[in-house]
Amino acid sequence: MLAEPFNWQPGLWKMLIVVMCVALLGCLQAQELQEHVSIILLGATGDLAKKYLWQGLFQLYLDEAGRGHSFSFHGAALTAPKQGQELMAKALESLSCPKDMAPSHCAEEKDQFLQLSRYRQLKTAEDYQALNKDIEAQLQHAGLREAGRIFYFSVPPFAYADIARNINSSCRPGPGAWLRVVLEKPFGHDHFSAQQLATELGSFFQEEEMYRVDHYLGKQAVAQILPFRDQNRKALDSLWNRHHVERVEIIMKETVDAEGRTSFYEEYGVIRDVLQNHLTEVLTLVAMELPLNVSSAEAVLRHKLQVFQALRGLQRGSAVVGQYQSYSEQVRRELQKPDSFHSLTPTFAAVLVHIDNLRWEGVPFILMSGKALDERVGYARILFKNQACCVQSEKHWAAAQSQCLPRQLIFHIGHGDLGSPAVLVSRNLFRPSLPSSWKEMEGPPGLRLFGSPLSDYYAYSPVQERDAHSVLLSHIFHGRKDSFITTENLLASWGFWTPLLESLAHKAPRLYPGGAENGRLLDFEFSSGRLFFSQQQPEQLVPGPGPAPMPSDFQVLRAKYRESPLVSAWSEELISKLANDIEATAVRAVRRFGQFHLALSGGSSPVALFQQLATAHYGFPWAHTHLWLVDERCVPLSDPESNFQGLQAHLLQHVRVPYYNIHPMPVHLQQRLCAEEDQGAQIYAREISALVANSSFDLVLLGMGADGHTASLFPQSPTGLDGEQLVVLTTSPSQPHRRMSLSLPLINRAKKVAVLVMGRMKREITALVSRVGYEPKKWPISGVLPHSGQLVWYMDYDAFLA
Ligand code: BG6
Repeated sequence: MLAEPFNWQPGLWKMLIVVMCVALLGCLQAQELQEHVSIILLGATGDLAKKYLWQGLFQLYLDEAGRGHSFSFHGAALTAPKQGQELMAKALESLSCPKDMAPSHCAEEKDQFLQLSRYRQLKTAEDYQALNKDIEAQLQHAGLREAGRIFYFSVPPFAYADIARNINSSCRPGPGAWLRVVLEKPFGHDHFSAQQLATELGSFFQEEEMYRVDHYLGKQAVAQILPFRDQNRKALDSLWNRHHVERVEIIMKETVDAEGRTSFYEEYGVIRDVLQNHLTEVLTLVAMELPLNVSSAEAVLRHKLQVFQALRGLQRGSAVVGQYQSYSEQVRRELQKPDSFHSLTPTFAAVLVHIDNLRWEGVPFILMSGKALDERVGYARILFKNQACCVQSEKHWAAAQSQCLPRQLIFHIGHGDLGSPAVLVSRNLFRPSLPSSWKEMEGPPGLRLFGSPLSDYYAYSPVQERDAHSVLLSHIFHGRKDSFITTENLLASWGFWTPLLESLAHKAPRLYPGGAENGRLLDFEFSSGRLFFSQQQPEQLVPGPGPAPMPSDFQVLRAKYRESPLVSAWSEELISKLANDIEATAVRAVRRFGQFHLALSGGSSPVALFQQLATAHYGFPWAHTHLWLVDERCVPLSDPESNFQGLQAHLLQHVRVPYYNIHPMPVHLQQRLCAEEDQGAQIYAREISALVANSSFDLVLLGMGADGHTASLFPQSPTGLDGEQLVVLTTSPSQPHRRMSLSLPLINRAKKVAVLVMGRMKREITALVSRVGYEPKKWPISGVLPHSGQLVWYMDYDAFLA
């Protein structure tokens, strides 16, 4: 059907003319009042500025100056004007234009850029006030409307507070214009210091004004992860999950070492330097739920944060660490340390990360980085499962079809044999779609990558390679906050990494020679939530008289403690001895009685034991084992503070104990916690009496608190120390105060009681308890004396060598 012809009324004509005039006037005004952006680069003569930032600013100028924006560039530093001007001129000498720009045009553009760039000393509050005045005068003089100001902090973090205060008090732009401050890492050293720094900065700037740079987010292959996932939703929707992904590797290998930077490196180490930021950012981009609209910064940042919330906490066993052999020597030389100094800072780390959500449950994410390795390369590799069996011989397998060839998707960040950023998709997966800024690439003939010839992949590289900082400068200019680290994001990341860093603080890293000579020394394996080196540490690489001897340097020591057998060793050795003893007891019990009743304590000491049992004890009779809790905190079982939750995370989810053999304490009844009238303690006691012959456990594992408590039986609180009750409600001096615990009489009915004591914090109590008699009211642990069973103490040297 034809549309009705438009009826041109005279009134309509008039209206149209008025609208056009207003629009024309608007255009003229806009032309007159160009939007002006002032960019202040603090640290304008420093390394980062010389290597990347000036070039990035020049690129920004080339991209944006023609599009209705005018710019001024203020290079700033503490150096006096004359000398600073000279240094800055040097830094600006090497600016280059895109390859396809004619040399004459390039020279012209460079010249204009240099005219817009001025050095200024920014040292005192007055200097900042003068800067503000100059910007305002320039705007007025040239008739420009201010769009905003970018302050790029390319300075060490100790200088942040002063600069921030000055900007906030005298350099904010006028109403309607934006302020963007750009910050470079490090953003703290751990969760606490990051929080402090964030609070300090937060007192000067709004969250939306801060742009924390992680330059990996500007690497083209990294910046392509979300757009790629979005553009290939159809193919990836069914594949991007635990059913199809075998594992994910996020890797950054370097050949350089830390020489010349040891004063920084000694404080940070590879985990803080690379894993906490660059690799974690890549991990979140791979693992996050894809927002409906990937260009919504708010949605991307929210989904990123959800990944942090689902990360399973890291344990000491989640990581292996190494240090290249000449590192300590470099530190001694550069930091003037004595000859006896040996650093424990890792220069290599591999960490196994798990994400506890429905999409990724059980999929290993391996993060690895190191200095002085055999090659420089970075990538995120998603390896898909392959459950096909091909009947025809390999020569008939066609790359595009055969399900027997490896199936992988690689975001190749850079370097390596490929030498450039790339996205590689195995041809037997799907033909991907990429934006026009990426082109199909060809590599050198015969090139193999990740076990397959390059020809087995659909391979794409950027049409124009761009440096990460130049990409990020453009994102700052356009206010794309999703390419930067928000305060919430930063603190979530430190919250995830800090416990691991603390647990590794005194661990001696494996020494490696560096480069190709590393051979297989750093190869690692993983299973059941733990990661370990594949090879034993060779003798010659053990550090000499250092602060941290290896556990294997010592024998297991057997002696007596409180007249009962004592096993003592370095912690790793001790745990493995205890795990072996528990397994042997379990096997014997099952052989004799058909079942094994094991009561386990919570807290941090048994975590390593649980992990050991979960990973290295394939002969353990789990199917016939009943697991009981020695004590519990009055919190829901799903609470991270719950002892049962620790057992679940470190043991239960890795072994096959029948559901009906698991006996959590009933602390949560009638939707309330440990109410006397709910009789949870009595219920548990009845369950024990019903299932455990004579209420005598085959083995009870206890710990000893620094105040002499054991189970949840605390000094000065008589509950559970004697009497008829098998299970009691008690009160702890520390939070959560309410507890449920096996009573001392019940513990003493056990056939065997093992007390595990680890760490320096236990030295004093260990010494004290060795001297006291039977005084359970003061030191409940002293009341542990099985009537007819055996008591064995397991103490590590840190606790025992007092
Ligand atoms: C930096 C680290 O953040 O990243 C350096 O501090 C590391 O130690 C560098 O060498 C690696 O970045 P790129 O861009 O060279 O991969």
